[in-house]
Amino acid sequence: MKRCLDVPVFKLFSEFAEAEGIRIYVIGGFVRDCLLGNPGKDIDIVVEGSGIDFARKLGAKLGHIKVNYFKNFGTAMFKYEGIEFEFVGARKESYSRNSRKPVVENGSLKDDQDRRDFTINAMAFSLNKSDFGELIDPFNGLKALDDRIIRTPLDPDKTFSDDPLRMLRAIRFATRLDFDIDEDCYKSIYKNRERLKIISSERISDELNKIILTKKPSRGFKMLESTGLLQIFFPEFQNLKGVDSVDGKKHKDNFYHTLEVLDNLSVKTDDLWLRWAAILHDIGKPATKKFDPQIGWTFHGHDFVGSKMVYRIFKGLKLPLNEKMKFVQKMVLLHLRPIALVEDFVSDSAIRRMMFEAGDDIDNLMLLCEADITSKNDLKVEKYLNNFRHVREKIKEIEEKDSIRNFQPPVRGEEIIKEFNIPPGPIVGEIKDAIKEAILEGEIPNERDAAWELMLKLGKEKGL
Ligand code: CTP
Repeated sequence: MKRCLDVPVFKLFSEFAEAEGIRIYVIGGFVRDCLLGNPGKDIDIVVEGSGIDFARKLGAKLGHIKVNYFKNFGTAMFKYEGIEFEFVGARKESYSRNSRKPVVENGSLKDDQDRRDFTINAMAFSLNKSDFGELIDPFNGLKALDDRIIRTPLDPDKTFSDDPLRMLRAIRFATRLDFDIDEDCYKSIYKNRERLKIISSERISDELNKIILTKKPSRGFKMLESTGLLQIFFPEFQNLKGVDSVDGKKHKDNFYHTLEVLDNLSVKTDDLWLRWAAILHDIGKPATKKFDPQIGWTFHGHDFVGSKMVYRIFKGLKLPLNEKMKFVQKMVLLHLRPIALVEDFVSDSAIRRMMFEAGDDIDNLMLLCEADITSKNDLKVEKYLNNFRHVREKIKEIEEKDSIRNFQPPVRGEEIIKEFNIPPGPIVGEIKDAIKEAILEGEIPNERDAAWELMLKLGKEKGL
């Protein structure tokens, strides 16, 4: 018996099922992850009978436990000893063509296993007294785990057509576990790709985010691209693919470049939104692409155009339109700033300006820019990274001297109004801006006395 079943709670459930005369099984992700040596804290239990009734009675037996019921899905959940248990009656399901809402009938464990997505997710452990801990694996999921392969229990056309979200799930599991997708399965995804259109954007982006949060997300995106799914739900990203050539001059393929940036960044951070910034940093390139016979290919303003595209993309994918999105917009807009700094002589004022614009996100911006160095020339990479180290040192130095990161004007508008006895108006803004500019240019320190003195001087010049 596997060690992950060797916990008292399973024995307890088993005895209760025996007393009730009902057969129950652990199934799905917990079994898969247990066999991979990495059991999780979410456990699905299939009941040959009513999952809801069983959970209700078991909950009552365990004492003060809050059981949540989802009548529409025939499931019940509760948390016990830090573990999330979900109970479901074994089902025989068929789906209608135009919706993924299943028509459910009661069934046996085998019926339930038939309708699961992948062979590695269809394995069950018995929790019954007679064969406690036995693996019930009708589709040879164990071999698929050994062979590191994702395949469906039934004909993949049926499995994917029943629930098209499973096409994304196949890619998610393959990426996360570093498995391959079985060839027939892969072809079937391509064939059924249009069916993804019946899936809500929320569920699609939920899967997409899980792919993005894997160790090497590029693998998932390459599969999404080659199966034709990417084109369906994220055409802007698909548009980055391809290389144009004029007079033998080519530009780089921005799809693969972006994936390299994403992988580079993923080594350094698990922050989903910073990873999204990597995905979108060059999204404005197709729209700004031009060929100039003198210079070659240019993408002027792709940072600005790209940052403007973020809202529509987030809205389309039903991603949050809150400060997370604003963060991504900001990163896309500023992603060229540090690179521009390392190419020229780095002046303190240029660094101060960048810190002013990036605020607390300066460290994230630096991570993104370092990940953006994807040259194949090691010497060049080393040179850039060295220069970035220099920029980071400068940032630290300036931060110690002048705190610019969360810039607060050292003289407030009301103080200007009071001092010069003037009504509120544009002149107040002009004075405030001039003070801010002087600080960013390094003409005065970011201190109240110096700012006050400058304010008085500016007022005099303006005849106040
Ligand atoms: N399942 C399925 N088809 C789906 C979603 C889920 O057949 N579209 C089944 C699979 O057997 C899966 C189980 O339901 O193992 C639980 O689904 P879920 O919690 O989404 O995935 P896990 O396999 O538990 O994986 P993880 O929690 O790691 O995402």
